[in-house]
Amino acid sequence: MAKGTKTLFYCKECGNESSKWLGQCPVCHEWNTFVEAKVTKSSQKVEKALMERKPSHLSEIQMEEEKRISTHMEEMDRVLGGGIVRGSLVLVGGDPGIGKSTLLLQTCHRLCADDLSLLYISGEESLQQIRMRADRIGEFNDHLALLAETNLEIIDGVIRKEKPDIVIIDSIQTMYSDGVDSAPGSVSQVRESTAMLMKLAKGLGVTVFVVGHVTKEGTVAGPRVLEHMVDTVLYFEGDRHASYRILRAVKNRFGSTDEIGVFEMQQDGLREVLNPSEYMLEGKPEEASGSVVACSVEGTRPILVEVQALVCRSNFGMPRRTAAGCDYNRVNLLMAVLEKRLGFHLSEYDAYVNIAGGMKMNEPAIDLGIALAIVSSMKDQVISDRVICFGEIGLSGEVRSVQMAEQRVNEAKKLGFERVILPASNLKALKNTKGIDLVGVANIAEAVKALD
Ligand code: TYD
Ligand code: MG
Repeated sequence: MAKGTKTLFYCKECGNESSKWLGQCPVCHEWNTFVEAKVTKSSQKVEKALMERKPSHLSEIQMEEEKRISTHMEEMDRVLGGGIVRGSLVLVGGDPGIGKSTLLLQTCHRLCADDLSLLYISGEESLQQIRMRADRIGEFNDHLALLAETNLEIIDGVIRKEKPDIVIIDSIQTMYSDGVDSAPGSVSQVRESTAMLMKLAKGLGVTVFVVGHVTKEGTVAGPRVLEHMVDTVLYFEGDRHASYRILRAVKNRFGSTDEIGVFEMQQDGLREVLNPSEYMLEGKPEEASGSVVACSVEGTRPILVEVQALVCRSNFGMPRRTAAGCDYNRVNLLMAVLEKRLGFHLSEYDAYVNIAGGMKMNEPAIDLGIALAIVSSMKDQVISDRVICFGEIGLSGEVRSVQMAEQRVNEAKKLGFERVILPASNLKALKNTKGIDLVGVANIAEAVKALD
């Protein structure tokens, strides 16, 4: 072994490092996941560098105006935190076939109009296949160049030569570096590839978008290692059977992480859904019991959704419950609250709860929607389609305040709703809500009464 080279072991699952091999990882408790890696240390270089390095005070740090490049897609810009940051590394994760390549090619299409040079590197598809997709999206000009390549040393060379502004790597799992023996897609390859791309991005100031497929467990394959290394992690998700897609930021060094972008997959690429509430409420049945409109805030945007419940007498001792688009345990909890506080004998009933449109909502503010939909179905009482509700429900049946109540009320007003059932404690802080009837409720019993 060369002088200054030492051996290190790291866990393939979680990336935990250790100086000796271990059978079981003490961090993630997986067995047989430790693999060897060689690390070279150049002590002389470090000592020389040390002489020149010293920590700086905040006031000494020059602030550089962050240059953002707009993608000309409002939804995409918002999720990125206001546009693309030069020299950043962005991971776009998602299930295979969800539309990651389409999203990025479409981003290229919009960026082509500006004076930027783009390079799309695909390890998954041939140039003809990319051309076919591009033809569906629209006309491209010569600012976009394509390359079908999987060897990172070659990619590195091409990028250094061409110096594009933005590079797309589709996908990280197909890339390999000659310096690592294992197969493409393995943890060490993914780790090494990402590190190389990171160096390129920071060194040359190119923005690199990396596509990563998600494994069955819902993490980007080649696991967490990847997420730690990049600047921004976006997930592209949606129901394969529904046409809408959601782009969600789960990590962002340059912006907030709770923003979402909504798109719809069409024949000619993705269309931005600028008003998700309208889109989600399309096809809402009229005069049907068990249906109510609730409001959930995703990032900084209130989104109205239809909550549906079907409650019917159970034929077995064990009632069946399902929840689609919301938390199953939350539904059970809300049913227990209704049983205990309102005296409904829900334990004798099956209940199926669904957020129409297939969107997943985890904000507690939709509690009131779920509870009222269940009550409406149970009593077979229609809730007016001019009414929306929001509020978190506590274990004693109290309706608790939620944040951003004013934005929710305004969204309801914008879409022509006439009445809002909301937490009484939110009511006081609300200003400027003329033109809409507000009903503040302190507990679930009052909310049910407000329906009559
Ligand atoms: P794709 O971008 O290839 O997915 P990923 O890169 O995440 O694997 O998208 C695949 C799906 O999108 C495929 O089923 C076809 C569909 N699609 C459309 O419906 N309209 C379009 O304009 C395009 C390009 C694709
Ligand atoms: Mg693809």
